[in-house]
Amino acid sequence: MSTSYGGDAPLSYNKYLKVPELIRLQQTLSEPESHDELLFIIIHQTYELWFKQILHELDACIGWMGEGRLFRANHSLRSVNSIERILVTQIHILESMAPIGFLEFRDKLNPASGFQSMQFRELEFSSGAKDEKILESFREDEFAYGCLKARFDAPSLADAFWSLLERNGLSGASYEERVNSTVKMLAKPERYAELYNMQDLLIEHDELVIAWRYNHIQMVERMLGMKRGTGGSDGVGYLTTTLKKKFFPELWEARTHLKMEDVLASD
Ligand code: HEM
Repeated sequence: MSTSYGGDAPLSYNKYLKVPELIRLQQTLSEPESHDELLFIIIHQTYELWFKQILHELDACIGWMGEGRLFRANHSLRSVNSIERILVTQIHILESMAPIGFLEFRDKLNPASGFQSMQFRELEFSSGAKDEKILESFREDEFAYGCLKARFDAPSLADAFWSLLERNGLSGASYEERVNSTVKMLAKPERYAELYNMQDLLIEHDELVIAWRYNHIQMVERMLGMKRGTGGSDGVGYLTTTLKKKFFPELWEARTHLKMEDVLASD
């Protein structure tokens, strides 16, 4: 028996994945066409597809945490981190483009910029780094603003994690209490097993996004030096300030306070 899809023809790989539609989505702007513009478009579109999958897993994960399903939540986090490991290294593909290859078509991009990647901002907001100024910068883009506002108002991964700890009687709502509860988990990994694994996966998610930022900055400097960005920022100078962003500052700070006495404590 054959399966049909969008008509009478049997389902095929190309039909199911909409390959003809997909390969028509890379439309260059340079004339005559600049050789490297296709790579530039494909790498960005690939990032956007992976961002979509990450958001899908983050949404599921926030739901699992809310239901107290730690094993399932950790499974989604592992998937997020696997994708992010690819995203961190994928940026290097762009370094095969010569600076002059990029200059050939760069002016055509003005004033578009990665700064306006709606899904990257969704990833930041849903992980825990919400920023009202960034949200407002999307005002003119009705679709993006709607998606981002919904994420701005909804509980983030960080919210879901800390309320999970509160429900388990491990933490209060303050920053200090969160740091202290993390110290306890770090001191006794086997006792807190799934929660310990969860904080480990969360700090890894944070670390991988920072690693992506770092590799992106290095690539940008290699391509542009200290030129201004097409989005209007001062480029590398601005990007370097974003390295400070953390979704789970409490998890990082707890490492500073952890001592052998916590490991030996008998509570
Ligand atoms: C030749 C390649 C690239 C160059 C020269 C470049 C340059 C820049 C610059 C200068 C900025 C700062 C904002 C501005 O003024 O425009 C920026 C931001 C950004 N870019 Fe890229 N970029 C490149 C490729 C990519 C790729 C492949 C991605 C993948 C999604 C990406 C994602 C972003 C994001 C998300 C931001 C905002 C970062 C933040 O504000 O935290 N960029 N980029």
